[in-house]
Amino acid sequence: VPEPTHPRLLPTLPGDAYTDPAWFAAEQSAIFARRFVLVGRSDEIGAPGDFITAGVAAESVIVVRRADGEAVGFLNVCRHRGARMLLEPSGSCGKVIRCPYHSWTYSLDGTLQGAPNLRDWALGEERQELALQRVAVHEEHGFLWVRIAGERSFADDIGRQLDVRLGDASMLAAWGIDRLRTGRRIVYDVAANWKLIVENFMECYHCTTIHPELVGVIPAFRNGLGSQSFGTGYGSELGPQTEGFTVDGRPGLPTIPTVPDEDTRRYYGMTLTPSALLSLVGDHVIAHRIEPIAVDRSRVVCDWLFEPETLASSRDIGPTVELFDRVNRQDFDACERCQLGAASRAFAHGGVLVPAEHNLNAFYDEVRDALAATTRPEETSR
Ligand code: FES
Ligand SMILES: [Fe+2]
Repeated sequence: VPEPTHPRLLPTLPGDAYTDPAWFAAEQSAIFARRFVLVGRSDEIGAPGDFITAGVAAESVIVVRRADGEAVGFLNVCRHRGARMLLEPSGSCGKVIRCPYHSWTYSLDGTLQGAPNLRDWALGEERQELALQRVAVHEEHGFLWVRIAGERSFADDIGRQLDVRLGDASMLAAWGIDRLRTGRRIVYDVAANWKLIVENFMECYHCTTIHPELVGVIPAFRNGLGSQSFGTGYGSELGPQTEGFTVDGRPGLPTIPTVPDEDTRRYYGMTLTPSALLSLVGDHVIAHRIEPIAVDRSRVVCDWLFEPETLASSRDIGPTVELFDRVNRQDFDACERCQLGAASRAFAHGGVLVPAEHNLNAFYDEVRDALAATTRPEETSR
C-alpha cells in the first residue's frame, strides 16, 4: 500500500497497532501504567471500608475509603503467595483487607496486620516489607483516578488536557460534577482495540452516517466537525428545534443551576487520554471509561450523571440516557467493524485521515511518543 500522497490526507497508525498483542502489552506499560486512569466515582466508595476494583495496565487495583476519608489504592495482590484478594467490582471490606486464601489481613494503609497460626513468627520488619503495594489515587470532580507507576502529576496529565480543551480547567467547576450522582451506568463489551474507541470519539466525520438521533439534536454535526474539531473552548450548539439533549429532542431535565446561561444549550465533548471521555450538556454529564482487556477487546463503562434533586424527583431520565446509549452502540459497532478490517493486508500500513479527522494525529503522536520513550533502558522497569 503506497504512502498517501495527497497533502490533505494524513496516515493512521498501522494495522499492527490494533492487532498485535506486543503493541498492546507495550501500551499497557508505557501508557496505562504511567498515566492517571479513570477507575470510578467517589460516591462508589462513600463509607469507610468501601472499595472498588478496576483493571489498570494489566493489573487489578483496589481503591478503598479509609476511616479518615482518604481514598487509597493498592495492587490487588496478596504479598504471601500472590492471590488476587478482592474479586468483586465493589463492596465493603470493613477495617481490613483480608486475603481469602490463608487469611492474611492488611490494614487500610496497606501494612500487614495479621497472619494466622504463626506461633514461631512474630511480625517485625516484615510488616512494612510485606505491605500491599501502593498506587497513587487522585480524587477530583467526584472521579477516582489511579496511577500505578511513574511520577507524572494529575495536574500535568488530566489537568493539562482539561486546560487545552476548555481553555480554563476551572470552567468545569460550573457543572459541579463532584455533586452529581450516577443515574444510570451501562457497561459495554466491545470487540475492538481501545484506540479505535478513543479515535472514534475524537471525530464526527461519521456522525451523519451512523448517528441519526445525535445529528437530530445537534444539526451542526452534519458537517462532520464535532465539538473537539474546533479546538480550545468550543461547544457545539443544540439545534434551534431541539428542546433537550434527548433521543428525540424533547425537553430534558432541569438545567444544572450553576451552568452559565450561554452553555445550557451546548455540548462539550472531550477526550482525556488515555481512556476517559467526558461529555457536558446543560442538564447532565456523561463519563465514559475505557478498560482495555486485550488487543481486540475493551470494556466501556458509561455513567450518566445528574443533579441529586433530579434523581430524587419523578423526572424520567430515560429519553436522556437513550440518546447516548444509542450513540454508544452505533459507535461501538463501527469500532468493531474497524477491528475486523485492521488485521487485513489491505490495512497493514493503516488508512488515512481526512481534514475533519486531523485532530486524531495528536493522539497518534502521543501513542508513538510513549512507546518510543519506553525503549530507553531506565523506562523499561515498572
Ligand atoms: S496468598 Fe494470601 S494469605 Fe496466602
Ligand atoms: Fe460517534
